[in-house]
This record gives sequence, C-alpha cells and structure tokens, in this order.
Amino acid sequence: MRSNQPGLHPGLASCVRKHADTPWRQPVPGATREAFARVEAMRRAHWAGRPVVLDSGCGTGESTARLAQRHPEAWVVGIDRSAVRLARVGADRGPAGRGRVLWVRAELASFWRLALAAGWSVSHHYLLYPNPWPKAAHLKRRWHGHPVFPALLALGGRLELRSNWKTYVEEFARAVELLTGLAPGVSRLDDAGAPLSPFERKYLASGHARWRWRDTLPKTSI
Ligand SMILES: C[S@@+](CC[C@H](N)C(=O)[O-])C[C@H]1O[C@@H](n2cnc3c(N)ncnc32)[C@H](O)[C@@H]1O
Repeated sequence: MRSNQPGLHPGLASCVRKHADTPWRQPVPGATREAFARVEAMRRAHWAGRPVVLDSGCGTGESTARLAQRHPEAWVVGIDRSAVRLARVGADRGPAGRGRVLWVRAELASFWRLALAAGWSVSHHYLLYPNPWPKAAHLKRRWHGHPVFPALLALGGRLELRSNWKTYVEEFARAVELLTGLAPGVSRLDDAGAPLSPFERKYLASGHARWRWRDTLPKTSI
C-alpha cells in the first residue's frame, strides 16, 4: 500500500478522543433512513430476537452469503452504498433477501447509528477490506478517525476488521484500545481456507499480506 504516512497517524489519539467527547449529530440522509425503516420492519416481522451479523461494506454481497454459513443461528445483513456492486444480488433498488441473508444499499455511518438507536443485538460484525484512505490527510475518512467510531463500537458484538494495509489495522486496534481498554492484537492472516470476499481473493492471488484485528467489544454507549 502506498502511503505518505510512515506509521500510526500522529493525530490519531486526539481525533478519537474528540469524537468520543463530542456527540455526532449530523442528520441521517433520507435514503438511508428509508432503507433502514424497511430493513427494521423485516427484522421485527421475521427475525425479532435473533442475533444479527453485519457485513459492513459488503460490496457484491458474496461475503454476506458466506457469513450466513458461518453463523447459522443469525440473521445476516450486508450493507453497501454501491448500487453497481449490490446489483449482483438484486439489492440496487431496495433491500433484497435470500433466506436469512439480506442486502441493503445504505450509507454505513448512518445505518450504524440507526441500528444502535433501534437496539439491534449484533453478535458479530465484519469490516472486510474497507477503503483504506492511505493519505495522511484522510485520517478522518478511515472508520477509526470518523465521528461515527464510538457508535460503531457501541453496536457491540465480536468485531473483525481485515485489510491489506497493516497501518490501518494497527490504528483501528489502537483506537479501540483508547475507547475500551482492549489490548490491541493485530495478526497476519494465513492463506489457509477459502477467501471470504472478492477483495480477499484478489489479495490472495497477488500475494499481498492481509491483516486482521478482532475482539469481543465490551458494552459502551454514546
Ligand atoms: C474495498 S471494497 C471491499 C468490498 C468487500 N468487503 C470485499 O472485501 O470484497 C469497500 C466497499 O465499501 C463500500 N463503502 C465504502 N464506504 C462506504 C460507506 N460510507 N457506506 C457504505 N458503503 C461503503 C464500497 O462501496 C465498497 O463496496
């Protein structure tokens, strides 16, 4: 990964603390509010009381279907803002489901806040290869530098991040430590097992190292 940032961003801690101390009140876009309302109606009608697994930034939705096999007890929701990618699973014009799997087009930061406000019980949450935003100036676009980060942690569950940029994963782990006290543990993924997502397949094929942070989040609130 090419970056003008040699290690952890020097402004990481102040950025994370500022977002923890200042409630984020940006209005939720109408399209995501409508999409969430439809998904929430489905959850209440068919999946109330079931654990929820989130595949945030699911791209073409392939990983969401794989995660459903891994979590047979759960309702599994893939979220992405790209209509082009979600068209592969028919979710470009509205939420589309197959059994316990649902794909929805939405803006993640808003969707997470709505899910938190609705009291979703997230058992597992996957962030597979989020856009890395490798320029130092783009720290605030990385999920741990974004004002939604405290809400992402408050959603809870076992959170797993994967990236081909080690610095992203190390920063994320440090940001989690700052807000929860969980000790950072970043590991290299080995090449055993089928890739979970198209980006993972791409990095495996090109021989790129892949990095992971995962842990069970303690209860936090915003
Ligand atoms: C690098 S791709 C990874 C896709 C997939 N997880 C994989 O591993 O193959 C990042 C995905 O995150 C989505 N994404 C990025 N920012 C988003 C946001 N704010 N809200 C919703 N989706 C977003 C993009 O549309 C894209 O599909």
